[in-house]
Amino acid sequence: MFINIISILFFLPFIFGNNLKNVYENQVQKEFLASNTYLTFAHRLATRGIYQGFAKFFFDSAEEERDHGKKLLDFYNVRNRELLFYDIKITDEIASMHNLTKMIQTAEQMERQVYDNLIEVRLAADTDKDYPTVHFIEQVMLEEQTTAVKYMHDLLKRIERNSDNSTILLQMIDQDLRKKQLKKP
Ligand SMILES: [Fe+2]
Repeated sequence: MFINIISILFFLPFIFGNNLKNVYENQVQKEFLASNTYLTFAHRLATRGIYQGFAKFFFDSAEEERDHGKKLLDFYNVRNRELLFYDIKITDEIASMHNLTKMIQTAEQMERQVYDNLIEVRLAADTDKDYPTVHFIEQVMLEEQTTAVKYMHDLLKRIERNSDNSTILLQMIDQDLRKKQLKKP
């Protein structure tokens, strides 16, 4: 018992020292996983040709997630900190998903997970007194992520409230997305 406590106390600094690195790597992983997932959705929708507005929406979202991952990497690059990269695995369920409502549900879930992990990074950085990282996460990453979670949450609630006519609603939203996309320069 006594030896166990001693060993926990001995390893504690190592555990906490690595915590920020682990959650930061996790964040990069989640951003690129979201990017690949949205790319999969976009490709499937574009191929089937029914929801072209949503296809473009997911292509754009995939780009955004990639940019987020890149921002996190750049922040570490200029500080000479190294990260480890692991496989980004898309599950078979996601790879073969063809139902648009399920895609939106998956996207909403992913955005929330990305947000939750950002909070973990923020907390770990604070514990390490790494204030530049605290500032970066708060100012650059969190604000945008909050908006993304809100958008996906509202979209999903709209669909769930109209579950009896979800196909008509999805087609209407798709039309709206196309109009907005056409207006963009
Ligand atoms: Fe993101």
